[in-house]
Amino acid sequence: MNHLVAPSVLAANYRNLQADFDMVNRSEADWFHVDIMDGRFVPNISFGMFIVEFMKKMAEKPLDVHLMILEPEKYIDDFRKAGADMITVHYEACPHLHRTIQQIKESGAKASVALNPHTPVSFLSEVIEDLDMVLLMSVNPGFGGQKFIYNTIPKIKQLREMCIVRNTNTLIEIDGGVGLQNAEEILRAGANVLVAGSSVFASQNPTETIAKLKVIGRGEVWV
Ligand code: DX5
Ligand code: ZN
Repeated sequence: MNHLVAPSVLAANYRNLQADFDMVNRSEADWFHVDIMDGRFVPNISFGMFIVEFMKKMAEKPLDVHLMILEPEKYIDDFRKAGADMITVHYEACPHLHRTIQQIKESGAKASVALNPHTPVSFLSEVIEDLDMVLLMSVNPGFGGQKFIYNTIPKIKQLREMCIVRNTNTLIEIDGGVGLQNAEEILRAGANVLVAGSSVFASQNPTETIAKLKVIGRGEVWV
């Protein structure tokens, strides 16, 4: 499959979100990546479902909602109602992960689990068949604009291997420090969804950066 690009709106201009949403709507991007931070699971606070509801009105592409919050099971239905098409919860925040995944699916959203940089891919072994996507954090979650952690590359390969062995179509999304400088290596390792925040919104020409991220490796089959 051709890989997907999901600009992270955490890096958008909040004085004029409509303009940035229009830009992404008209660009070659596939999804909007929406980061929810609670100041407890991660040291930063972003915004809640009220804002997501407005984002849904502006977005003409799916909302990929990344919950960096404790007890995400309490809010899944709210985020689904607000317009989330894909919901990602963190492995590290879910003692009853299997139940939480089922809850996401019952809400009607696609289900995804995120792993922090220190969490081994093998910890998803018992739920991989239930997942539409796995998000590998390539920075410690909480802030945009951080440096890509290189140990993510072998994790991508391991996860790709697990998906092949188990015969699943699970998407592999990479989040944090992704840009034109490392996208090819990430895709080659087996990822197929790139989240890009500052590398898109802080670039001279965001539409063009998205187009460049989309075109990398086009025509080559790596996974
Ligand atoms: C980090 C968030 C990311 C962030 C990525 O905790 O999950 O989605 O917005 O930002 P960049 O692409 O700037 O690293
Ligand atoms: Zn994210």
